[in-house]
Amino acid sequence: MLLLQALPVLGLCALATATATATPQPAGLLGLVPGKRKLTFDGAGNFKVVSFSDMHFGERWGVFLFSLGLRAWWMLSSTRMQETERENVFAFNATGYLDQCFAPTVARKIPFSCTHGNHDNANNINHWEEIQYEQKHYADLSYTRSDVGPKPYGPGNYWVPVYATEHDSKPALIMWFFDSRSFVSGTGDGPGPVPAAADYYWVDENTVPPYIKQQSELTKTIWGNIPPALVFVHIPVQLAQPLDAYTTEGDHDDYPGTQGFNDNNTYTGLDLPFWNALVALSHTNPTPPHVGNVLAVTSGHDHGDSWCARTANLTSGVPICFDGHSGYGGYVTPNSEVRNARVFALSLEGLRVGEGGVPVVRTWNSYENNTINDEIVLGPSYMAQYN
Ligand SMILES: *[C@@H]1O[C@H](CO)[C@@H](O)[C@H](O)[C@H]1NC(C)=O
Ligand SMILES: *[C@@H]1O[C@H](CO)[C@@H](O)[C@H](O)[C@H]1NC(C)=O
Ligand SMILES: *[C@@H]1O[C@H](CO)[C@@H](O)[C@H](O)[C@H]1NC(C)=O
Ligand SMILES: *[C@@H]1O[C@H](CO)[C@@H](O)[C@H](O)[C@H]1NC(C)=O
Repeated sequence: MLLLQALPVLGLCALATATATATPQPAGLLGLVPGKRKLTFDGAGNFKVVSFSDMHFGERWGVFLFSLGLRAWWMLSSTRMQETERENVFAFNATGYLDQCFAPTVARKIPFSCTHGNHDNANNINHWEEIQYEQKHYADLSYTRSDVGPKPYGPGNYWVPVYATEHDSKPALIMWFFDSRSFVSGTGDGPGPVPAAADYYWVDENTVPPYIKQQSELTKTIWGNIPPALVFVHIPVQLAQPLDAYTTEGDHDDYPGTQGFNDNNTYTGLDLPFWNALVALSHTNPTPPHVGNVLAVTSGHDHGDSWCARTANLTSGVPICFDGHSGYGGYVTPNSEVRNARVFALSLEGLRVGEGGVPVVRTWNSYENNTINDEIVLGPSYMAQYN
C-alpha cells in the first residue's frame, strides 16, 4: 500500500544525559553526505514517509524505534515483545533489538533514518552508540547521523534531502531530525549509572538552534529558497500542551508529556530556543510565500496521542503532530490498543503549488488492522479559523 522505492524508515530511540560540550559549528551543507544514494520522489511525483514511534523493543524500557517505512514494514515489525525485561538490557541485547527492528526494512532495501527516544539513553546504551551502530552495520540504508549536539546523550541532530529526480541538485524536501535527549533511571551492569545531568528533556538549546539557523542560511544562499521541511523529534515541544485543547482528528488520550521540564516538573522554557528556530525556518524564505515551509513537526513519546493541530497564537501556524504508538511494549491507552503509524504522503505538486504557493502535505494514521483514519491536509486551510 505505501509504495515508494526511496522510502526512508526512521528508527527512533532516545536517551539523554548531557555533558553539554558545544560542537564547533559546521561549515558546509551537512545534509549533502558524499557517497549516500539520493532519495528521490517516484516517477509520478510522490514520496511517502511512515513514522513508526515508540516500538519499545526489549521492554518495558528498551529501545524506542521511530521509523519511516512501508506499511508492509510495519506489519512485519509488530512482533509482540514480552514485557519482562528492563531498561538495563545489555548493549548486546539492545543492538539485537535494533537489528530486529530494521530487518524487514533491510530485506526490502528501504532506506531509513532514526531519531532516538528517552529510553534509548540507558545505562548500557546511549544515543551516540546507537547512531554509531547504525552507521557501522547499516551504512547503505541508514541515513541517521550526528551533525551537532552533546555526545553521547543528545547527538542525533541532522537533516536528509529528498530530490524530485536523480538529476536534481536542489532538494524538493528536507527531513530534519532532532534529539530530545532524556533518560529513564535504572541500575545496570554496564558502564555505570546514567548521570543526573542526563535528565534533560529538551533539544539542546546551545548547539541546535545555531545549527538550524546556519544550515538554513546556507540553504537559502545556495538554493535561493529553503525547501519545504518535515521535522521529526521524539519528545514534543511544550506548546503541544495548550494545543491539546483543540478538538482535532486523531486520539487525544494523553495530556502531552513534553520537553522543557526539570526534575521538579517545573517548566523551564528551555525547549523554546529550538522551537523558535523551527518557526524561523518556516517563515524566512526570501521570496513569496515566505511562510509555511515547515509542513509538520511530528513526535512520538505520548502513546495515546495521534492528532495534529496548529494555531497562530500558540505555534505561529506551524502544525504539531503525534504519531501514536507502533510497538507492543510500553503503556497503552483506551484508543491506542490497535497499533498505528503516521503516514506523510508528499507530492511534488503539493510542495511546489500547494495552496497559493504554500506547500501542503497529506497525512493520516495507518492501523495494524488494515484501516486508515484521521486523514487531513496540512496547509493554509488546515484549522484556518485559528490561523
Ligand atoms: C541478552 O544477551 C545475553 C548475552 O548474549 C544473553 O545471554 C541473553 O539471553 C540475552 N537476553 C535476551 C532477553 O535476549
Ligand atoms: C528541586 O527541588 C528540590 C527541593 O525543593 C531542590 O533542592 C532542587 O534544587 C530542585 N531542583 C531543580 C532542578 O530545580
Ligand atoms: C489562542 O487563541 C484561542 C482562540 O483562538 C484562545 O482561546 C486562546 O486563549 C489563545 N491562547 C493564547 C495563549 O493566547
Ligand atoms: C481498526 O482500528 C481503528 C483504530 O482503533 C478503529 O477505529 C477501526 O474501527 C478498526 N477497524 C476495524 C475494521 O476493526
